[in-house]
Amino acid sequence: MTLKPNALKKQQHTTTYTVYENMEELPPSIKVLMEVATQSREKAYAPYSNFLVGAAVLLENEEIVIGNNQENAAYPSGLCAERVAIYSAGAQFPSIDINAIAIAARSRLKEVVTPVGPCGSCRQAIAEYEQKQGHPISIYFMGNTGNIINVDSLSTLLPFGFDANQL
Ligand code: THU
Repeated sequence: MTLKPNALKKQQHTTTYTVYENMEELPPSIKVLMEVATQSREKAYAPYSNFLVGAAVLLENEEIVIGNNQENAAYPSGLCAERVAIYSAGAQFPSIDINAIAIAARSRLKEVVTPVGPCGSCRQAIAEYEQKQGHPISIYFMGNTGNIINVDSLSTLLPFGFDANQL
């Protein structure tokens, strides 16, 4: 594609993230959060995909709220772990800010060695809470083994996102 003669210069987004080689390297409170996400993952209801995801949300008051994927025979009626967790946090603690979310996934069918980031719909859902509270939510995600990736804010994962300011 060629630029029109009067087009402004190309801009770029950069994605800054931290890679941890294993859970031992995580800051202590996040290690606990990831352990809770991992435990929660084992309680997922995922009979159709056999892909189990756990999420744990860390609130400013140090409460942890869990979620895991809940599938349904009518496939689109299921919900991802991240939204189960974040909506539960919103329901139980509507005025407490969210500091971080940890996500851990595994498959019953194969090893998941690459970190499993939140899907697009979950990014949009988490972005709503970040926008609502006016400060970032740190996201940590992993597979069942291998590296853990951290981004300091959901907005890193969703450039040019849509939010309430545009309504
Ligand atoms: N899933 C999650 O829970 N979180 C994600 O970010 C990606 C996908 C679930 C949805 C479904 O139950 C299964 O993983 C396979 O897509």
